[in-house]
Amino acid sequence: MIPGVLVVDDVEANLIAISALLEGMGCEVVWARTGNEALRQLLKREFAVLLLDVQMPEMDGYEVAHHARHNPATQDVPIIFLTAAHNDEEKVMRGYGSGAVDFLFKPINPGILRSKIRVFLELDSGRRKIAEAYAELKATQARLIQSAKMASLGELVAGVAHEINNPLAFSMSHLETARRSLEQGLTQSEHTLSAQSREHLDRVDSRLREMNGGLERIRDLVVKLRTFSRLDEGQRKRVSVRESIESVLVILQHRLKDKIQIETHFGEPDVIECFPSLLNQSIMNLVSNSIDAIEGSGTVTISTGAVGDAYVIQVVDTGKGIPERFRERVLDPFFTTKPVGQGTGLGLSIAYSIVKKHGGTLDLSSVEGRGTTATVRIPLVPVEGTQDATS
Ligand SMILES: Nc1ncnc2c1ncn2[C@@H]1O[C@H](COP(=O)(O)OP(=O)(O)OP(=O)(O)O)[C@@H](O)[C@H]1O
Ligand SMILES: [Mg+2]
Repeated sequence: MIPGVLVVDDVEANLIAISALLEGMGCEVVWARTGNEALRQLLKREFAVLLLDVQMPEMDGYEVAHHARHNPATQDVPIIFLTAAHNDEEKVMRGYGSGAVDFLFKPINPGILRSKIRVFLELDSGRRKIAEAYAELKATQARLIQSAKMASLGELVAGVAHEINNPLAFSMSHLETARRSLEQGLTQSEHTLSAQSREHLDRVDSRLREMNGGLERIRDLVVKLRTFSRLDEGQRKRVSVRESIESVLVILQHRLKDKIQIETHFGEPDVIECFPSLLNQSIMNLVSNSIDAIEGSGTVTISTGAVGDAYVIQVVDTGKGIPERFRERVLDPFFTTKPVGQGTGLGLSIAYSIVKKHGGTLDLSSVEGRGTTATVRIPLVPVEGTQDATS
């Protein structure tokens, strides 16, 4: 963005003259002819410096400076006062008091004007660089925290799945043996059993079948937990999107209660190449947000499939929506509207960086009070330069 210089003077000839002097300095000169117009311009965009004529009808320079200093959005803009008061120490002090950082005396010396403006343009560019570096640092920190969080969750899940697996396997196999023995016993003593004993043993058989059904469900869950954790998969792999999403839904199941319906529409192709545990993580973050956004009852719809040369995963909810004033900030790390201790504000920024790592895009659209649609698009053919699993 080209840095802006706001020049405020009620005399048009002065505006023209100053603009001519600032030509070629790599800044955009914006004019304001009154104090009110200056304050409006200040709110419209950022300025590297404000060149402010002291003597103006209606609102004078001191007053403009005073207002600018008292608005958090404009308080940091450096102000240079333009004044004819060469030797008037009192006026100069008043200027500093109202927020000036420097003075230029009329008639303006072009060399002095240009060198002062140059200093402020350099300060502005330095400030921007610091702000960018800070944002990057925060984003990196956010990624580290979230990946540590997910790594420990993944490890825990994988550990639990492993621990359940052994006792599950022998319970299932012993149950099978018990059922077979019972069946044999029943056939062999068909004619000697009393009606009452027969009834008891039939009930045992039916309970054993139910237990087997329960154990089968546990076995499916363990398979899904393992799909979710995929700790060994720091690399691109071809995986089933349906399996991935189903495993995420299993993890989130306990938060659905019975008021939130989940609908899934799995399109073609089912198998794509991606970083599976990362993709799981981003889908989990999006679906979690949808669940959080639903007050009372509602629906979360997840659709997948190829559109052109992109693979699209869409998460649509009937939640409360994202208010207009937050839209630009929701992707920022640490931005959250949830109470302290409930939201880290990392979910979306992480989802965004994961999608970016796949060379794709994440878009959010929302109607307040109606719901939100999150759309992930990743290239079906992996993009060069997105292969490194550790970055
Ligand atoms: N589907 C959605 N509906 C409404 N608001 C949303 C939705 N998704 C995100 N938001 C808004 O964006 C904010 C940031 O979301 P993000 O996932 O980054 O952090 P969080 O959900 O607040 O915290 P965490 O992800 O750590 O639980 C949320 O606090 C919420 O205000
Ligand atoms: Mg979240």
